[in-house]
Amino acid sequence: MNFEFLGEYWHYFVDGTKVTLLLSIFTVVLGAIFGTLLSLMRLSGLTPVRLLATAYIEFFRGTPIIIQVFLVYYSLPQLIEGFRFPPFPFLEQYGGEFTAAVITLALNSTAYVAEIMRAGIQSVDKGQMEAARSLGMKPWMSLRLIIIPQAFRTVLPALGNELIVIIKETSIVSVIGLGELMFNADTVKGSLSKPFEPLIIAALIYLVITFTLSKLVGRLERRLKRSHA
Ligand code: ARG
Repeated sequence: MNFEFLGEYWHYFVDGTKVTLLLSIFTVVLGAIFGTLLSLMRLSGLTPVRLLATAYIEFFRGTPIIIQVFLVYYSLPQLIEGFRFPPFPFLEQYGGEFTAAVITLALNSTAYVAEIMRAGIQSVDKGQMEAARSLGMKPWMSLRLIIIPQAFRTVLPALGNELIVIIKETSIVSVIGLGELMFNADTVKGSLSKPFEPLIIAALIYLVITFTLSKLVGRLERRLKRSHA
């Protein structure tokens, strides 16, 4: 094994890591917001709302994410004459591909977060809602102030896991040519015609990121547990 190429090619890995992290951050934030909303729809008493949420979740969990990426990236331009993905605000240099990638990853994560949050909400004792209501809180207020914060604490490990999955999962958008870590490792691989070393570097970078995050999530969990006790 020979890693001398890094002297010339290191910036591919740095740039790629930057894009991977940016993608992950936007995906996690959007996924958390829309996933929480979707979990409420999934628990709604209104049958059409519940069915819609269920169909969404089943589709995005039941089809491969690589198909979802291609569907978003190619179908809109085919369905709408002259449609192009606009560049992402403040990140114009990455082109419309970044926008398409964030949209796909967020659509996908929303489905997984919805199921995590649903389990969390259902794990909160019924008495909590009854107590909130008997104090005069409206249903939405009880959900927001009493139920969701407790659900959040329960599902924190699962959400931390989702974050780590997303970081690895961003590598899939290399198929639409966005220069994230996987794509850039592939580019280096191509120009060196040596596959092994660039992939080892990329794997190590993913590992450092996910390992660090899982330690941080673990610490946050312990702190929440202590403050709860
Ligand atoms: N690898 C899975 C697939 O090909 C996607 C998993 C996405 N997971 C997630 N928690 N967002 O469909």
